[in-house]
Amino acid sequence: MARKDFMCGNWKMNASHLEAIQMVQKLSYRLDLADYDRVEVVVAPPFTALRSVQTVIEADHLPIGLGAQNTHWLDDGPFTGEVSPPMLAKLGVGHVLVGHSERREHFGEDDAIVSRKLRAVLGAGMTPILCLGETLEEREGGVTEEKVSGQLDAGLKGLAPEEAVQVIVAYEPIWAIGTGRTATPDQAGEACEFLRSSFGGTFGGSMGDEVRIIYGGSVNPGNVSALMAKKHIDGALVGGTSLDPDQFASTIRYWV
Ligand code: PGA
Repeated sequence: MARKDFMCGNWKMNASHLEAIQMVQKLSYRLDLADYDRVEVVVAPPFTALRSVQTVIEADHLPIGLGAQNTHWLDDGPFTGEVSPPMLAKLGVGHVLVGHSERREHFGEDDAIVSRKLRAVLGAGMTPILCLGETLEEREGGVTEEKVSGQLDAGLKGLAPEEAVQVIVAYEPIWAIGTGRTATPDQAGEACEFLRSSFGGTFGGSMGDEVRIIYGGSVNPGNVSALMAKKHIDGALVGGTSLDPDQFASTIRYWV
């Protein structure tokens, strides 16, 4: 089965719900049906904007998916400040980021938490986007593969192949996130190829061929086409660039 290109805007802690409405509307003006045929487009606003963005998507029949940046792993309970997978699913959220390096670094999320969240997202009928990647120190120390395959295995531990293949894997070298320093297409392509073969080793070669693996880290209209030319890169997780609808649309339309 051909892997459809996938582009997700990760808005992080940016945009009020009013700004978010404008951002998704502007994005939709810059994309046409042929673009959506070629690329699955998702935006992941902050929690406070999910409902507003969902309303725009629904009212205007936009073929844009709604993503969340985080979730708890339980359905409900005494967890002040948390949001659960069923709450997100009910809002029309289709994708949820898990294991983003900013959450691992600033909020103490370890592999065990990431794996719980990932299972909970699948359990609620949504698609997890499993983020992983190495630090600069790890890359320079030659342990990139060890690091990312460890994160991949831990995140997907215990899943059946038909569950694991629904996950989107986002390779995001930490040194390339928000730094303007993109991995070269070769570096990104090699890491994604390695992750695909590692995935195939665990879940079967045909699953490895099917699973979508995307790259994230300072992706912009200037570097996206060289990244997308790599056989094993199926899309991008776009942070800073996705805050500007013009720039994000140009990134999505990487072939233009
Ligand atoms: P960036 O963020 O595009 O701003 O580097 C990517 C991400 O963190 O998902």
